[in-house]
Amino acid sequence: MTAERTGELARAVEVLRSGGLVAIPTETVYGLAADAANEAAIRRIFAVKGRPADHPLIVHLANAAELDSWAADPPMVARRLAEAFWPGPMTVLVRRGPGVLDVVTGGRPTVGLRVPAHPMAAALLAEFGGGLAAPSANRFGRVSPTTAEHVLADLGDEVDLILDGGPCRIGVESTIVDCSVDPPQILRPGGVSAATIAAVIDGELGEADGPSRASGMLASHYAPRCRIDLVDTRAAGESILIGLDQSARPAELVDLGADADGAARDLYQLLRSADQRGVATLVVVQPADDGIGAAVRDRLRKAAAPR
Ligand code: TXA
Ligand code: MG
Repeated sequence: MTAERTGELARAVEVLRSGGLVAIPTETVYGLAADAANEAAIRRIFAVKGRPADHPLIVHLANAAELDSWAADPPMVARRLAEAFWPGPMTVLVRRGPGVLDVVTGGRPTVGLRVPAHPMAAALLAEFGGGLAAPSANRFGRVSPTTAEHVLADLGDEVDLILDGGPCRIGVESTIVDCSVDPPQILRPGGVSAATIAAVIDGELGEADGPSRASGMLASHYAPRCRIDLVDTRAAGESILIGLDQSARPAELVDLGADADGAARDLYQLLRSADQRGVATLVVVQPADDGIGAAVRDRLRKAAAPR
């Protein structure tokens, strides 16, 4: 690590210790981090994001050994997932340990935990020595940030420090697995696919039974200003473009069908850039519904939902 980077991390730790907010790069999206043990700092996260208090935050940890300090008696399946996918885009929901603040979990009996894989986030967590509560570093309901520039554009000087770790490698949020129910359920598709998870837990994965299971998972979310039309083939997209009336122009077609990893990585930048260019309608060819394609389709569905 360069001396400059070391100095930046030391400064970030100082900001966090004094109850400030630091935007951090992760492999999924940028997070807006605060000391998970500091109630006032957590309240500031909600204020800056404009996020309702009943949408709980994920606590980011330095390593899997910390699972037991934050969870009460975590089930074997949570340990398996942690062992297989941490550090990485996997969040486990487990019954919260006695020290976890109400303000972090929205008063729920569970807490979301994850060990991020981005080297800067990892170095910061190791140096900080505690848990960092961090939602995505965007205003509530808007598109998640995948570069430091996105964070600056959304939250500007309401963040005390923005660590620039370059563009996020994965580009969509972590997979959330509720391990507090049996069988466990995927509440949010993300960087780790359902098939990969099923292989590791060698057991059943339950069907998530609706948005009530995770308060943040509203039907309309990840919302750009432009209208989004979803199709499964380029031909279908082209015929929509031809049929659009003048009020829906300017319109553009983006084909995300061929490369799901690329689609995940570029998705949020694409939505932002469509808004910046004043695109009224974005016609999107979706990737297939497997692997990370499932997460891309989930975000697109929410971005396209009427609001
Ligand atoms: O990849 C990610 O997970 C990113 C990076 C920064 O780690 N974080 C992220 O956080 O996406 P956020 O707050 O934007 O989304 C977390 C989702 C929200 O919908 C929240 O309601 C849900 O997880 N969640 C967190 N803790 C929960 C809990 N205890 N019970 C139910 N839902 C929970
Ligand atoms: Mg978010």
